[in-house]
Amino acid sequence: MAKINTNFLNLQNRYLFSEIASRVNTYAAANPAADIIRMGIGDVTLPLVPAVIEAMHKAVDECASAETFHGYGPEHGYAFLREAICKGDYHSRSVMLSPDEIFISDGAKSDTGNIGDLFATCNKVGITDPVYPVYVDTNVMGGKSIHFIPCGVENGFMGDIPDTALDIVYLCFPNNPTGAVATREKLAEWVNYALANNCIIMYDSAYEAFIRDADIPHSIYEIPGAERCAIEFRSFSKTAGFTGIRCGYTVVPKALKCTLEDGTQVSLNALWERRQSCKFNGASYISQRAAEAVYTPEGRAQVKASVDYYLGTASIIREGMQRAGLECIGGQNAPYIWARTPAGMPSWDFFDLLLNKASVVVTPGAGFGQAGEGWFRLTAFADRERSREAVERIIALVKTLK
Ligand code: MLT
Repeated sequence: MAKINTNFLNLQNRYLFSEIASRVNTYAAANPAADIIRMGIGDVTLPLVPAVIEAMHKAVDECASAETFHGYGPEHGYAFLREAICKGDYHSRSVMLSPDEIFISDGAKSDTGNIGDLFATCNKVGITDPVYPVYVDTNVMGGKSIHFIPCGVENGFMGDIPDTALDIVYLCFPNNPTGAVATREKLAEWVNYALANNCIIMYDSAYEAFIRDADIPHSIYEIPGAERCAIEFRSFSKTAGFTGIRCGYTVVPKALKCTLEDGTQVSLNALWERRQSCKFNGASYISQRAAEAVYTPEGRAQVKASVDYYLGTASIIREGMQRAGLECIGGQNAPYIWARTPAGMPSWDFFDLLLNKASVVVTPGAGFGQAGEGWFRLTAFADRERSREAVERIIALVKTLK
C-alpha cells in the first residue's frame, strides 16, 4: 500500500496566497461592481522593458529556424547568462564568483523550496518570523524541526542572533514581508554565527535591486567568510518583471562544504549540481536570453527606472500609512510596507474588513507567521494612481475605527 508523506498533513490547509486569492474571488463574485485594488501578492504590473522584449523576439526568431533552433539547454543554465550574472551582479561588487557557482532556474521560489533536498531531516532549522511562507512550508513537508526567530520592533525586525546552535538559517533581506534591510554589521554577525556553528545560511536576496543606500550590502558574499557558509537566491521577477516569464538563479560557492561524521568534506555545489541535473531541465532559452538583456547598458537603465517607479509608490504608501496614524516600517530600499493594524485588530479580521468595506487587498501579517499577528503587508507593485487611491481608502476606513 502506498504511504503518503504524512508531514504534508502538518501544513496549514492552504498556501497563504491561495487563501487570499480564494477570499478575493468570493468577494468579487458576490460584488461584481466592486472596484478592487490588489496590493496583496507582490506581483509586478509594469510591462517588460524594451531591451528584454527585443532579446525575447530575437530568441524566438532563432528558434524558428532549424540552423539556430535550441532544444534542451544545459541544466544549470547557458554560459552567456552565468557569465553575465557573475560580471554584472558580483564582480562589479568585488565578489569574485565563477560561472560554475551560479545555477540558473525558473525562480527563487522553487529553489528556496528545493534546496531542502540536500539536507537531512535531523537538521535544526532557524526561520525568521514573520517570513515568506515557502521556507516554513517546505521544511514542514521535509519533516524538519523549526526554531522560529522572532523579528519585531524590539530588534529592528532583524531577529536576534540565536543563543542555540542551529544547522540551517533562512534569511531574506530586503525582507519579505517587513521590508527591513540588513546592515553590513548585522549580516556579519549572522555570518560569524554560521561559521562558528557549522551552520548554513539560506540567503534570499530576491529584492536586492531595491537597495538604494550605498552602505547596505546587496549580497551576503560582500561579507568575508560568507562563501564558506551561505547559499544565495536571486530572482529576475521583481526587478525585471519576470513573475510570468520565470527566471532566477542560486549561488552555491565551491568553498561551501559540509563535513560528514568520518570527517569527509562534501561539496554542496556538487550536490546541488547533481540534484538539478536529475530533477530540473533548465529554464527556457528564451527566458535566459531575456535575463541576459537585463545586464546590457540599456537593460540596466530600463530596469532601474522600473524599480525606481515601484520605490516611488512605496514612499507614497508609507507616508499614507503614517498619515493614517499606523505604525509602519519598510518601503525604503524595499517594495514592501509593514504596518500595524488599527485598534489592535487581528490581521485576518482587518484583511476581511478592508476587502469588504474598501475593496482593497493586502496581506494579513498573521499569514507570515505568529509574530506577524496584528500587522499587515502592502506591496508597492500596483499602478501608482491605484495605490494612491488604495491609501486614501485605507485612511478613510481607519478613521471610522478610532
Ligand atoms: C509575495 O508576495 O510574497 C511574493 O510575490 C510571493 C513570491 O515571490 O512567490
